Amino acid sequence: IPLAGVLGHPIAHSKSPRLHKYWLRRHGLPGDYVPMDVHEQNLETVLRALPKAGFVGVNVTIPHKVAALELADQVSDRATLIGAANTLSFGADGRIHADNTDGYGFLENIRHAAPSWSPAAGPAAVLGAGGAARAVIASLLDAQVPRILLTNRTRPKAEALRAEFGARVQVVDWVQAGNMLEEATTVVNTTSLGMVGAGEFRIPLDGLQPGAVVSDLVYTPLRTRLLETAEAAGCIAVDGLGMLLHQAVPAFERFFGVRPEVDDELRRVIQ
Ligand code: ATR
Repeated sequence: IPLAGVLGHPIAHSKSPRLHKYWLRRHGLPGDYVPMDVHEQNLETVLRALPKAGFVGVNVTIPHKVAALELADQVSDRATLIGAANTLSFGADGRIHADNTDGYGFLENIRHAAPSWSPAAGPAAVLGAGGAARAVIASLLDAQVPRILLTNRTRPKAEALRAEFGARVQVVDWVQAGNMLEEATTVVNTTSLGMVGAGEFRIPLDGLQPGAVVSDLVYTPLRTRLLETAEAAGCIAVDGLGMLLHQAVPAFERFFGVRPEVDDELRRVIQ
């Protein structure tokens, strides 16, 4: 039977096994999907062995997304653009193909949750400049957002993304983060602020414009302070669980040959 899984360190928190196993059951497909706790120094050895053990592919998560791209024999354009991989598939000869479905998942989630969203309508404000921000910025630019206002606690990381993604990205100082919301018709939090166990989200939100689409990548809790405040201000709030579900769709299809659906039952099961 075809095997797939997810490699990370730590990995116990990953929702991916539950998600893929749900789809396997739902579609009556043979196969299994297992979590694997793999240290950075063992990543290559494990990846080279998996095809020999019946694996058709794997997802990779923190901290392996950049290393996986570098180890791959073949890389998709969108993984190159994002600079990281989250989905690997193995050829019959054991060659590793790397793809990144995070940007796709991010856009699909917004399009499902906010069908009226028009990315070209105005600038987007992006908070954070880590790994997740790369996928978000690449896909917003691809979706024809006219400008991205980017802010990060550590400003040089935002400057580096601007240098890479070009002049449609403008860096705003972290202390000015609240001000950039006034212009934005799309707002995305890619920082860990607001997540259970991480720092509190304290950026002033009174600049949020009614009608703006506000998306938080944090999904524990599902209703973050950012999303609660956005909804109260007349914005359209889009939670982060949907991105996780949608990024898994092309991966599952690649592994098991059937394109699965994201629906409310799945959200209930995974949440
Ligand atoms: P991910 O892959 O989820 O993007 P990451 O690459 O570690 O994870 O990025 C985490 C992001 O959250 C960064 O933008 C980080 O800001 P710094 O670059 O300044 O570290 C942001 N972040 C994490 N904790 C934060 C905090 N307490 N205040 C502000 N930003 C924070």
